[in-house]
Amino acid sequence: MRIKVNQALVSEKAQTGIEVAGWVRTKRDAKGFSFVEINDGSCLKNLQAIVDHTLPGAETLADVLTGASVRLVGDLVPSPAKGQAWEFKATTFELVGKADATYPLQKKGHTPEFLRTIPHLRARTNRLGSTLRVRSKLAMAVHRFFQERGFAYVHTPVITASDCEGAGELFRVTTLDPLAPERDASGKADWAKDFFGRQSFLTVSGQLEGETLASALGDIYTFGPTFRAENSNTSRHASEFWMIEPEMSFCDLKGDMDVAEALVQYLVRAALEECAEELAFFDAYVDKGLLERLRLVAEKPFARVSYTEAVDILLASGRSFEFPVKWGENLQAEHERFLTETHFKCPVTVYNYPKTAKPFYMRQNDDSKTVAAMDLLVPGVGEIVGGSQREERLDRLEAAMSEHGLDLQAYAWYTDLRRFGTVPHAGFGLGFERMLMFVTGEGNIRDVIAYPRTPGHA
Ligand code: 4AD
Ligand code: MG
Repeated sequence: MRIKVNQALVSEKAQTGIEVAGWVRTKRDAKGFSFVEINDGSCLKNLQAIVDHTLPGAETLADVLTGASVRLVGDLVPSPAKGQAWEFKATTFELVGKADATYPLQKKGHTPEFLRTIPHLRARTNRLGSTLRVRSKLAMAVHRFFQERGFAYVHTPVITASDCEGAGELFRVTTLDPLAPERDASGKADWAKDFFGRQSFLTVSGQLEGETLASALGDIYTFGPTFRAENSNTSRHASEFWMIEPEMSFCDLKGDMDVAEALVQYLVRAALEECAEELAFFDAYVDKGLLERLRLVAEKPFARVSYTEAVDILLASGRSFEFPVKWGENLQAEHERFLTETHFKCPVTVYNYPKTAKPFYMRQNDDSKTVAAMDLLVPGVGEIVGGSQREERLDRLEAAMSEHGLDLQAYAWYTDLRRFGTVPHAGFGLGFERMLMFVTGEGNIRDVIAYPRTPGHA
């Protein structure tokens, strides 16, 4: 019976006649036997196997280089070596797949930049392997969080005809021939002849459809891929990323912030509990101080300030920012990071933003200048959550849609929600990769997703 390396390493007793399989990290030859370090991806640590040169299959050892795949049968025995309870004493050895000396992941340090050039192999490194294990655990923790609270997991379309954020950062989905599209009378591409009979795009957010489902199921969440043709080449923007979007009926901005903060805290705790080995690795090799910061976040309540208070704090800071601070402008990354890293030194939720800086669907506050929006900012990353209470009043919503230049007819399905049993409701989007950056200390979004898509790179 094959057991995984992670199970072997925590075994409570010696075991005989078991099978292990994996990829060779290193091999060291001694007199009469070899040490072979095996990793099978189940955990960060390797299992050390001792392969006697007289064993069946041992004659292939000369061909066993870093990266080769091997299968061994043998016994799990107490290890005399420091730092490991168990080692594996092989009774048979099999070289499954050779790797020659050109294998790029030889035992030495590799820069993240180099590793990005070999995305098909880099998951075999300690660093990306650990990130992908954390990613898997946190994805399940997201579901646990919402399922425990009675939210329904819904699937909103990936292909859509609407632009939720109104920023025009859409990837077009078309089957028209780009070189010779069918044309309308004015000579432009004729979208009526396109696959869906109209223009369609990859979704920038499942929110609008999510709202329709929340007005039926009460509390819902989505967790899926999201696409933005946003030409920002930063360490925090990807063209394809995963977003978690809850939507809650009978909920206001305060309730929305409560859930967002509880989710972020829940995920940090889950990572501390379920990925202790990986986080210790990141703390040691990627971001010193990570563990201490995460423990604080797991325990301490987050700060909350209104946008107006945040602007006052920034103005009073005496800092000279690259982008000047001015009421009415969106906060820039440098402003967000000053608030969370320098001023509050903890995650902070900023709420009630000027309406000019935000999309059409946010609920207008009584001051007629701000909307019930919120962003959750964390040290090292900045914004990881963006959300709002939605405008549930039909007249206000239609006025805002007109102001934003939306075609009311095309969004009649959305305004129907306000015609038939409208309710106060709210939701937010948590960027999954940004959450992973926060939890691993990775500084670049390209290193928390297996196949990053960014401008110029697919
Ligand atoms: O603030 P955003 O644009 O909000 C929305 O899309 C709302 N419709 C969400 C909602 O209320 N249901 O995006 C939400 C979050 C951001 O805070 C950020 O974490 C992440 O999505 N995000 C990105 N992550 C990686 N790359 C990008 N290009 C991102 N754009 C947004
Ligand atoms: Mg945002």
